[in-house]
Amino acid sequence: MRDAAPTTIYLKDYTPFGYLVDSVHLTFDLDAHATRVTSRIAFRPNPDATDRTFFLHGEELKLIRAAIDGAEITPDVTDKGLTADVPDAPFLWESEVEIDPGNNTALEGLYMSNGMYCTQCEAEGFRKITFYPDRPDVMSTFTVRINGDLPVLLSNGNPSGKGEGWAEWVDPWPKPAYLFALVAGDLIAHPGQFTTKSGRNVDLNLWVRPGDEGKCAFGMEALKKSMKWDEGVYGREYDLDVFNIVAVDDFNMGAMENKGLNIFNSSAVLASPETSTDANFERIEAIIAHEYFHNWTGNRITCRDWFQLCLKEGLTVFRDAQFTSDMRSAPVKRIHDAIDLRARQFPEDNGPLSHPVRPESFQEINNFYTATVYEKGAEVIGMLKRLVGDAAYAKALDLYFERHDGQACTIEDWLKVFEDTTGRDLTQFKRWYSQSGTPRVRVQEDWADGTYTLTLKQRTDPTPGQEAKLPQVIPVAVGLLGPNGDEVRATEVLELTQAEQSFAFTGLAAKPTASILRDFSAPVILEHDQSNAERAFLLAHDTDPFNRWQAGRDLAQDTLMRMILQDAAPDTDYLDGLLTVLRNDELDPAYRALMLGLPTQSELAAALHDRGHTPDPMAIWAAVETLRQATAQTVQDLLPRLHSEALVDGPYSPDAEQSGKRALGSAALALTSRLDGGAMAAEAYDKANNMTLQLTALSCLLRARKGEAQLDAFYEQWQHDRLVMDKWFGLQVAMAAPEATPAIAATLTEHADFNWKNPNRFRAVVGALAMNHAGFHQPDGAGYALLADWLIRLDPVNPQTTARMCSAFQTWKRYDPDRQALTRAQLSRIAETPNLSRDTTEMVSRILG
Ligand code: ARG
Ligand code: ZN
Repeated sequence: MRDAAPTTIYLKDYTPFGYLVDSVHLTFDLDAHATRVTSRIAFRPNPDATDRTFFLHGEELKLIRAAIDGAEITPDVTDKGLTADVPDAPFLWESEVEIDPGNNTALEGLYMSNGMYCTQCEAEGFRKITFYPDRPDVMSTFTVRINGDLPVLLSNGNPSGKGEGWAEWVDPWPKPAYLFALVAGDLIAHPGQFTTKSGRNVDLNLWVRPGDEGKCAFGMEALKKSMKWDEGVYGREYDLDVFNIVAVDDFNMGAMENKGLNIFNSSAVLASPETSTDANFERIEAIIAHEYFHNWTGNRITCRDWFQLCLKEGLTVFRDAQFTSDMRSAPVKRIHDAIDLRARQFPEDNGPLSHPVRPESFQEINNFYTATVYEKGAEVIGMLKRLVGDAAYAKALDLYFERHDGQACTIEDWLKVFEDTTGRDLTQFKRWYSQSGTPRVRVQEDWADGTYTLTLKQRTDPTPGQEAKLPQVIPVAVGLLGPNGDEVRATEVLELTQAEQSFAFTGLAAKPTASILRDFSAPVILEHDQSNAERAFLLAHDTDPFNRWQAGRDLAQDTLMRMILQDAAPDTDYLDGLLTVLRNDELDPAYRALMLGLPTQSELAAALHDRGHTPDPMAIWAAVETLRQATAQTVQDLLPRLHSEALVDGPYSPDAEQSGKRALGSAALALTSRLDGGAMAAEAYDKANNMTLQLTALSCLLRARKGEAQLDAFYEQWQHDRLVMDKWFGLQVAMAAPEATPAIAATLTEHADFNWKNPNRFRAVVGALAMNHAGFHQPDGAGYALLADWLIRLDPVNPQTTARMCSAFQTWKRYDPDRQALTRAQLSRIAETPNLSRDTTEMVSRILG
C-alpha cells in the first residue's frame, strides 16, 4: 500500500511548474458511486520554468480516457498521478475519469454527506477529482458543467446557464485548484442581497438542508456585515454577481473559502437562539467573516506553495479578529485571543510538534493547518502593525493588493510591501516566520534617583530541528502607574531587538508599578516576578484592560501554584481583588466574567513543568476545585444579583452586551452550584429560554454530580437536532469527574447516536475526552488507551481528523515516568498499525520525537 519511507517536501526545493494553464473546462456526470469527470485544459509552456516534466497529480482516479490535441494517449499512471509526453507549444489536454464519492469517507475531494454532493479541495483534494497540476501557483479560469438529477447544482463564479438536470458556472477570476468547489443536492436557499460600494448587486444565498431554514438569519447578517466591513476598513469590494454559502454536516474543519461558494461545517454557520450558545454565535460570525475575507486575502492573492499558508491564514485570522473587535468589544476579544493562544498554540510551540509560522518541510500538508500557522501567524501581523503604526499598515496593505492582485505570493512579497512603504529593514522581524518556539521575556526592574529602568532579556528554548535561537524583534507595550494608581507614563511600545536590553524612564517622583506587555503586544511568555501586592494594585488600577485582566490571572495562577506545591490555602489577595472587581458595576459584565476565569489545568501543568516540577493532574484538579469553592464562599453575597444579570429583558440577541451579561450570570450560577448543590441550577434549567442558559444550567448540574433527569429531558427535547446532540455528548465528557471520565466517554461511544464517522460527533466525545485534563490523564492510562483505540479505528476512514486529534498526546513528556510509559505504549501501538495513513504516521512520529 503506502511506501515504507514517506516523502518529505522542502520549501527550499520550490520550482515553478513547467506549464501555465489558460483555461479549465470540467463536466461532472454525477453518480453516487461512478461520477464521471471530463476535463479540457489548455496548457502552454511556462517561460519562467526550466523543468518541462508534464506531471499531473491524480489519486484514487480511474482513468477512462486521455487525449492531447484530440489524439488519444496512454499516459504513465501511478498512485500519485500521471506523466505524459506533450508538445513544446500550447496544447489541449483532455481526460475522463471515474470517481466514487459515495465511498469517500475521508471528506476530501468529491464526497457525499446526507445525500448531498460536496467538495473539499484545500489543500490537495482536487487531485482526487481529476488529473491536474494541483498546486496553488497554477491558476486558471474555470468553467464547470454539472449534470445531475438534483434540484440545486452549484459551483464557483457566476451562473452561466441551467436547465432540467444541469447547470453551468463560469468563474472569471483565475484561481488555483484548491479553491474549486461543487455542491449538488436537495437544498433550500436563505436569500439575501448586498450592494457593493461601487453599486454591484450581489445575490447572497445560504444553502441548507430542509429543516435547517430557521438557522440561517444570523449567518446571512454576519455575511453582509463582513462585506461592508471589508469595504470600509480595507477598501476591498466583492467581485462576482453571487456569493453562495453551503452548510454541510460532514466536514473535517470549520469552513472553506472556495471562490464564490464557501462550504461550511454546519456547526460553523447554522444558528438559532434555541439551539446555539452565545459562544457559538460569536464563533459563527467570525468564521463567516474569515471565509469572506479570504476572497481577497487568499483568493485574489493566493499562496505560491503550501509553506506560505500563513500568508493567507495568518492575515485572514488577523482580519477576522479586527472585525470581531469592531463588532463587539476589543478588550474582550483580545483577552479571548490570548486565552486561546495559550491554550492551543503555546503547547504546540513548546513541544514535539513545534514548527515555524512558515514551516520548512512537511510530509502531509494537512498536518500544518495549525494554531501556529493560523493564530501565531495572526499575532505576527499584529506585531508588525504595532511596530509600523496604523497608517503605515494601511498603506502597506493597499500596496499589497495593488502589487499582487492575481498572483501566488510568498512571505517575502508580503514583507517587501512593508519595507517599501516604511523604509524599515525587516530582516530581523522575519525570524518570526522562521524560528519556532515561544520566546520568553524575563523582566528585571531597577529604581534609583527618579529613574525606573526596565531590563528585558529574551530567550527561546530549543525546538525540534532548531537548537540555537537568535533574538527576535519583540514589541513590548509598557505603561507606568504611580503610587495612587494614576498613569504616570502612557503606553509606549519598546522594541526589544537584543538578547538583553534596558529601557530607562526618568524624572519620576516615586517608584512606579509597571504594566508590561499591554494588550498582549507579543505572543511571548512574560517572566515577571511581581509581588502579589503589585498584581493586586494592577488589578485595581491598570488602565490597560488586557493587563488588568492579566494581573488577576497572575494572582490566580500564583495561588494555584502554591496550593499545588505547598498545600497553601487560597490567597486572599486574589480573592479580595476578585471581590472588588465583581462589585464594580462600572466594569463590563463580559469583562467581569473573564476575571472569574482561571488558567486551564493544562496551562497549570505547563507552568509547573516550566518551573522544574512534574505536574500531577489530580493535584491540579483538586487545587482548582478548592479555589473555586473558596471563591464561591468569598463572593457568596454577590451571587444572586450577578446571576440575575443573565436574565436580560427583551428578546434574545447574541450581541456583545447581552452575551456579556449571560456570561457573568452563568459564571455566578456555576459558583452558586458549589454552595447549594445545584438547586438554583435546577431552577435555571427549567426557566431557560435559550440554549446558552439551558446548557449552562445543565453543565452546573453535571458538575454538581446531579442532572440525570435533565440530561434525559435534554435528549428527548433535542435528539432530532444534530448540532445540539453534539453538545449533549460533549458536555457529559467535559463535566465528568476525573476518575469517571474514560468510562463515561467509552459508554457514550456505544450510544446509538454516536456516529463516529461524523467528525463533529467524533470530536464531541473523543475530542472532549482529550480536553478533560484530569480525566484524560488518569493514572491507569484508561484515557490514553481509549483515545488510541478510536484513533486506530478512525484512521482508515478519515486520516485528516485522526491526525489532528493525535495532538492530544503532544504534551506527554511533561508528565511522570509512569504516564510517559503508558502514553508511549499507546503511541507505539498507533504507529505500528498496518497501513496507517501518511497523516497519522507523520503526527505520531513527530510526537514520539
Ligand atoms: N482554508 C480554510 C480556512 O481556514 C481551511 C481549510 C483547511 N482544510 C484542510 N483540509 N486542511 O478557512
Ligand atoms: Zn482561513
